[in-house]
Amino acid sequence: MAIRAWTWVVLLLLALLPSCRAAEAPSPQPSADPELAVDDGLRTGYHFQPPKHWINDPNGVMYYKGVYHLFYQYNPKGAVWGNIVWAHAVSTDLVDWIMLPPAIYPTAPFDVNGCWSGSATVLPDGTPVIMYTGIDGENRQVQNVAYPKDLSDPYLREWVKPDYNPVIAPGPGMNATAFRDPTTAWQGPDGLWRLVIGTKDNHRGLAVLYRSRDFKRWAPAKRALHSGDTGMWECPDFYPVTTSPAVGSGGGGSGNGTKHVLKVSLDLTRFEYYTFGEYDHATDTYVPDAALADGNDGLRYDYGNFYASKTFLDTAKQRRVLWGWANESDSATADIRKGWAGVQAIPRKVWLSSDGKQLVQWPVAEIESLRGAHANVTDTLVAGGSHFEVTGLASAAQADVEASFQVMDLDKAEPFDPAWRGADAQTVCAARGADARGGVGPFGLWALASDEHGERTAVFFRVFKGGDGGKHVVLMCNDPSMSSHADDLYKPTFAGFVDVDIAQTGGKIALRTLVRKIRCLINHVIFVIDLCPDDCPYSRMRVQIDHSVVESFGAHGKTCILSRVYPTKAVGDKARLYVFNNGESDVKVTHLNAYEMRSAKITSDAVEPTKR
Ligand code: FRU
Repeated sequence: MAIRAWTWVVLLLLALLPSCRAAEAPSPQPSADPELAVDDGLRTGYHFQPPKHWINDPNGVMYYKGVYHLFYQYNPKGAVWGNIVWAHAVSTDLVDWIMLPPAIYPTAPFDVNGCWSGSATVLPDGTPVIMYTGIDGENRQVQNVAYPKDLSDPYLREWVKPDYNPVIAPGPGMNATAFRDPTTAWQGPDGLWRLVIGTKDNHRGLAVLYRSRDFKRWAPAKRALHSGDTGMWECPDFYPVTTSPAVGSGGGGSGNGTKHVLKVSLDLTRFEYYTFGEYDHATDTYVPDAALADGNDGLRYDYGNFYASKTFLDTAKQRRVLWGWANESDSATADIRKGWAGVQAIPRKVWLSSDGKQLVQWPVAEIESLRGAHANVTDTLVAGGSHFEVTGLASAAQADVEASFQVMDLDKAEPFDPAWRGADAQTVCAARGADARGGVGPFGLWALASDEHGERTAVFFRVFKGGDGGKHVVLMCNDPSMSSHADDLYKPTFAGFVDVDIAQTGGKIALRTLVRKIRCLINHVIFVIDLCPDDCPYSRMRVQIDHSVVESFGAHGKTCILSRVYPTKAVGDKARLYVFNNGESDVKVTHLNAYEMRSAKITSDAVEPTKR
């Protein structure tokens, strides 16, 4: 109780600080003091978050000489957005982190009102450079560069902003308050650097291209790289992918199986979508593949709470790694009371699916080093309308679960309501949530469940028949409607369609294993449609549970959904894990492995740079 009271006094003082300090010149911000961290049992154990205060976008993510750098938007003065600086953390394994003092903070006329998002580029001579959006004295959004002060410092703690900033200012006719978040730069065959900045022209979102020979003087290209009628484009990301998770360098055009991905974050709806297609280096033309849509119908990395994401090329492991921010879904008042807001999703490896139709993602393998005690279930039938608890874990509040299911009778799939044609998955899942009895499904997991499972977050599949062209429709959903007894929470159902093409000829179809292989009994011939032609061992539902995070990966990372939830009973060692089946068809858990997860080590390197 005494600690609680003291915490309140400190929070009150912190809340008063901004107004007391309003007239002061911005000064370097020391590292957050872990002593002041508020731990109410819902802080994450292995999803990245600083000891306290507000965070948003991942920035400048990079791998440099054996060290992973994560910069992120941070309010050093409170748990709501404001006073934005670039906080900085480093890691050698993307699991344990050392918190460093903020690297970039307002110091000059070109960023006096804030240091907003941006990216890092490693130049050919090995020097990393950051380009970020500064909010200048006239509240214009301008792009500035910063270089490490001391390249021999393995953590690159201090960054210097040359006086020649800003290097890119909004040109005549451009929207100066919507011109931000430069991408990592890439070099064309002509030796020029290129990068993309997000902006808008009325309702049209644009990714505008700039070129430079020296990273100092930048000129706009005549044409935007791409645009869409979807409002302001924030945090664009542009990079090459192949069907191999091991990708080559960030440069080079498309072709030879390489596609270029353009991801944008939509300020209006706060979701992201991506397209991929052909990028011609010589003309700087980007043409998305014809099957892909811009906007609401577009493909998404994540159908849940995941925004302002950014990738980097991990040259150590030849993979592309994706970071994304997950906001809170409680109220700002609750955030101020907790003293913290925002986490980063688990870094994910990202590559092109082997059928070339979408991207797939999977948590970086390093995260498995945190796995501890383990519970296993094999070949266990879950009758329609039943559930059972996965026992053997001291707590299921911090866990990593992998499960594969087998549907026993696909004929029981309920018809896809024609009224849903053209609707997004979220609408369908909101209409048919985890507690709406179905034919095939809903079946899956209740995560963060209380003992009488009054609180639970359902992660599940549901299969309908009679979708477009008579195909089956497979949905994956996170339903947090029962996740908490607390009030004032935003509890949206999130969902994505799972791209599974079950051929149908009018004969009987038996879907045997949903996420690993589908066997179709068509006219008495058995076909095997492999959802994962590479026979990857990871084609299954995987759910990363972390106190207030339920981050799920369905069907080989094809459909990913992150939810933020705030249980009041299913906290700490009271949190349980169940398998449920609320459909008519029985399902079988072919295998399930649930691991308790140790916490990542977050250490503070609070020594002021000047004292080194
Ligand atoms: C996205 C965003 C960016 C901006 C930053 C400010 O969440 O709005 O466009 O640079 O956050 O914190």
